[in-house]
Amino acid sequence: MDIEQLKRQAAAMALTQVRPGMRLGLGTGSTARHFVELLGEQVAAGFDCLCVPTSEATARQAAALNIPLSDLDTLDRLDITIDGADEIDTHLNLIKGGGGALLREKIVAAASDAMIVIADHTKLVETLGRFPLPIEVNRFGLGATRRAVAAVCTAHGCAGELRLRQTAAGDSFVTDGGHLILDAFFGRISQPEALSTDLLDIAGVVQHGLFLKMCKTAYVAAPDGVRTLTSGN
Ligand code: A5P
Repeated sequence: MDIEQLKRQAAAMALTQVRPGMRLGLGTGSTARHFVELLGEQVAAGFDCLCVPTSEATARQAAALNIPLSDLDTLDRLDITIDGADEIDTHLNLIKGGGGALLREKIVAAASDAMIVIADHTKLVETLGRFPLPIEVNRFGLGATRRAVAAVCTAHGCAGELRLRQTAAGDSFVTDGGHLILDAFFGRISQPEALSTDLLDIAGVVQHGLFLKMCKTAYVAAPDGVRTLTSGN
């Protein structure tokens, strides 16, 4: 089965959890894009919801589908955020940020009563780290921040290249918030909680793509069907 079909199946499962009047966080990426499309079909048929997008790209897509949008200045809390992931471990801890939207994704998920992750089965891993960990950093002092990140990673046994993300045109990739991204090629992250804490202690680090204990439900689509994974997190 085509991977896009799997993503759409996972997105369709998430849509079954959405009730009229809900306030939703809309994720970013190719899987979340399917969810927004499906939600747009419901809105066109009269479905009532109010949504906060996690990126400019998702905001554009949702606006084009006439999905009502708001923000976290106006709304206190959201009911559910539906988002994709780059990796999902057995505790439903995640790596996110492959699309560069990790900061807004984490802010929106943290403001939500629940986070539902939608993914195809290739995102499942035993231990996080096969996918390079995105670390969003301030442009100012990049060299110093990079050295501090490298030192923290080494201290946690996470050796690997730290690569400044670039666009296809060879320019530095800039996030919606105007920051840069260092992608950390670890292979394996054995102590994600400790790594998370120490990375966030670095002055130039804005956020990182470890989403720990944030997701309680994941819909993971495989050729034999969509599995519902839950976590006691
Ligand atoms: C965006 O920054 C990411 O966190 C995405 O949610 C993640 O990369 C998953 O994207 P895909 O659904 O395109 O794989």
